[in-house]
Amino acid sequence: MIDGCGLAGRTAMVTGGAGAIGAAVCADLAALGARVIVADVDEAGAAEVADGLPGAVPERVDLAEPASIAELCARAGRMDIVVHNAGISIVEPFTGSDPDDWDLMWRVNLRAPMLLTKLLLPGMLAGEWGRLVFVSSDGARAGSGGEGAYAATKAGLFGLAKTLAREAAPAGVTSNVVCPGPTDTPMLRRIDAERPGLVAKIARTIPLRRLGAPRDVAGLIAYLCTERAAYITGQTLSVSGGITMH
Ligand SMILES: NC(=O)c1ccc[n+]([C@@H]2O[C@H](COP(=O)([O-])OP(=O)(O)OC[C@H]3O[C@@H](n4cnc5c(N)ncnc54)[C@H](O)[C@@H]3O)[C@@H](O)[C@H]2O)c1
Repeated sequence: MIDGCGLAGRTAMVTGGAGAIGAAVCADLAALGARVIVADVDEAGAAEVADGLPGAVPERVDLAEPASIAELCARAGRMDIVVHNAGISIVEPFTGSDPDDWDLMWRVNLRAPMLLTKLLLPGMLAGEWGRLVFVSSDGARAGSGGEGAYAATKAGLFGLAKTLAREAAPAGVTSNVVCPGPTDTPMLRRIDAERPGLVAKIARTIPLRRLGAPRDVAGLIAYLCTERAAYITGQTLSVSGGITMH
């Protein structure tokens, strides 16, 4: 292991830990020695992910519900690392989109990371060490047809993460955003089912000539959680095979 990349003694919460990217993040953080809280509304999926990882604990949470978030934080206690990975995308042309769908995406994709951070950041500040990683999307950086409301909620994470980076830096807490490009997960397959042919068309335009894999995204997230990444904060980084270059 590269010097300074171990996470022994650290506790990490990964939201959406039962999902494709989330499970890969849980695996990488556990491999680096962290004790991982696998937090997801999919209780069985979280248990399955945690089962395979030493010291990992599954936790059910509905991130759309503030009470559920508060209960999770009370059960879990102090965190060194929070990876805000859970997210939902409801694809619809903006003019035909349903404000109830906007509301659900706002609650899960943006309000939940805000609520979780409000509850968990004070412990990091007190301990003078912490890592916040927000999983946004290249759809928010570059725009993505049919994802107007989704992109709006994911773009909100940019401002949140940068502000937190400034506020928390004196206490050794970093805050960064990772933007997956098109990544081969159930979320992308759902979009493909709704808009057949779209994903294949996108894949052809990726300079590295393939869709991303969950482990491509997880590797950067895990690195940002280590001591070696202590001097990286307030950044927005894409893992997209070069489809977007910033
Ligand atoms: N797959 C892609 O191409 C892609 C591209 C850009 C960004 N992203 C982002 O990456 C992240 C992970 O996506 P993925 O592709 O692994 O998706 P996924 O659907 O496999 O995983 C998302 C996880 O979030 C959980 N979740 C959803 N609503 C929840 C709620 N209310 N409470 C708790 N958990 C909830 C789901 O149960 C699921 O396990 C998301 O934030 C997504 O927006 C994905």
